[in-house]
Amino acid sequence: MEFPVEKLINTARAARERAYAPYSGFRVGAALLTVEGRLYSGCNIENASYGLTVCAERVALFKAVSNGERNFAALAVISGRTEFCTPCGACRQVLVEFAPEMDVYMCNDRGEYKRQTAAGLLPLSFYLPPAAGGDNPPGGKKPPTRLTEPVDR
Ligand code: THU
Repeated sequence: MEFPVEKLINTARAARERAYAPYSGFRVGAALLTVEGRLYSGCNIENASYGLTVCAERVALFKAVSNGERNFAALAVISGRTEFCTPCGACRQVLVEFAPEMDVYMCNDRGEYKRQTAAGLLPLSFYLPPAAGGDNPPGGKKPPTRLTEPVDR
């Protein structure tokens, strides 16, 4: 299935408009594309207790997973700055959990981007083998495929 990257970036840009960032003023939008072609967006949501803030990327991913999605093709993330917006370390670990092979498009305010896979953004990510029968994937789908060579994670 073909999907124009501009559409993914535009979806992330629209989500950025909904950012709740009164403390940092740094507004971020994300858009996540499933393998089946469905789109989920997210924005950063800050809190007066700063550590409770959730990044745009995790909002998009958690919305998707809680809607039954498990297979992801690409994610775009954009801020309003001239620098490319790159996911924080916590988000990288969360992205790798579900989609190590997913393409991550890190955009600037002009819609230009750098692209890297989720696993490429987090070498040697933390990995815990799932407990036998511990996962409960919707629709009886298998858990995400994991690379078995630690050097490739
Ligand atoms: N933030 C994101 O939403 N995504 C990123 O990739 C980087 C950081 C948010 C968290 C916080 O609301 C603000 O940007 C400043 O750290």
